Amino acid sequence: MHRIAIIGAGYVGLVTGACLASSGMPVHCCDIDTEKIGKLSRGILPIYEPGLEELISDCSKPGKQLVFTTDLKKAVTNSDILFIAVNTPTLENSRCDLTHVFEAAVSIAGVMDGYKIIVIKSTVPVGTCRLVKQRISDELSRLGKSYGFDIVSNPEFLREGSAISDFFNADRVVIGADNHDAADIIKSVYTENAKCCCPMVVTSLESSEMIKYASNAFLACKISFINEIASICEHCGANVSEVSEGMGLDNRIGRQFLNPGPGFGGSCFPKDVMALAGAAESYGLEPKLLRSIMTVNSEQTARMIRKIEAATGGLDGKTVSILGVSFKPGTDDIRYSPSVAIIKDLVSRNAAVRVYDPKALGNLKKENPELKVRYCKNPYSCCSRSDCVVLATEWEEFADLDFEKLKSIVRQPVLLDLRNMYPPDYVKKLGFYYEGVGKK
Ligand code: UGA
Repeated sequence: MHRIAIIGAGYVGLVTGACLASSGMPVHCCDIDTEKIGKLSRGILPIYEPGLEELISDCSKPGKQLVFTTDLKKAVTNSDILFIAVNTPTLENSRCDLTHVFEAAVSIAGVMDGYKIIVIKSTVPVGTCRLVKQRISDELSRLGKSYGFDIVSNPEFLREGSAISDFFNADRVVIGADNHDAADIIKSVYTENAKCCCPMVVTSLESSEMIKYASNAFLACKISFINEIASICEHCGANVSEVSEGMGLDNRIGRQFLNPGPGFGGSCFPKDVMALAGAAESYGLEPKLLRSIMTVNSEQTARMIRKIEAATGGLDGKTVSILGVSFKPGTDDIRYSPSVAIIKDLVSRNAAVRVYDPKALGNLKKENPELKVRYCKNPYSCCSRSDCVVLATEWEEFADLDFEKLKSIVRQPVLLDLRNMYPPDYVKKLGFYYEGVGKK
């Protein structure tokens, strides 16, 4: 049985650690944040992810396989395979900050007690795994240690909100390695231990790193593409939902990620597209498509704000109710959330903004203590005396709003459905002014 250490108990580290532990492998989940580890040991999670709390609680009962620790030496010496899953924030110049990855690598070298496979799960620019290899070799020689090790790149493709199911039902697992034996061992972690039956793609370190960036950039491109088509649809009378359906049935295109909206957000797409474009520029290339993905994306959010402004007949002094703050449903994450960008813009233009989200209000308040909005307890209190209701995130809870009730509490019956959750005719028949994205 492989023994696993996860370095970095963030979103990716926690999900990976819990899923591997639930498959029966002993897992040490290690982080330098003592408060976080203390809470995790008591079953308190730093993030919301459906099913994760239950999974962690199940795997970390006494005698079970998941241990939380701040003691790197304990984690490393009790493991054969070490997953580095620390965060790689974006620097001001859009490049990826690798400080935590290199620190983790050097610290691992300092406590290594024998051969290890070191797996890079964090999203890192092409070439990073090779740099990590060099740093570990240098540190081992500096310390006079001669242990062998292999570096494997194993990017993650989990989506927030469905990460556990994505782990066990992955479309593919990508493994980049110089050494085929090391790649085979990581393969067996997924196929034999975690019982994943998807294709295993084994590549060079560089290709594996690139697959991650190219995949996220392509998905982001699909979204910007359909957002641009949606804007054309609004002018020519086509309905973008019908267009997505008709396009998506072509196997070469595929239906997923063709839903228009207020623009993509989250900690991954914006960061990864910008980092890839930055890398291309560092090679003297001009990544025109990658840059356009981001331009179209911010224009899409701006277009939604113009829609709200037009529907209210001017924002100054109007009350706007925002349903949904997280960048997508199923998460409390508000990083790069288009909803937050919209809220800030409306507030700056003197609108009275009321907000409701099933999970993300705490983060909105924490990250923006100065933001002047009214935090509401449910969708209806949020929409009270509203001049415009904006459906910004497609939480299940917003799928069957009681429009009779809404009509009786709003000032103006106006719904801007930025996620196309409702059929326009249905809402219009109930007496509302309705506008979606890419349809009349
Ligand atoms: C994304 C990828 O989907 C994962 O495969 C990847 O592992 C992850 O980034 C990562 O790199 O860690 P995530 O950011 O959790 O996952 O969320 P997505 O479900 O991809 O949604 C991203 C954004 O695109 C959201 O704001 C969502 O609302 C938007 N979106 C998505 C659309 O506007 N339209 C769509 O059709 C799909």
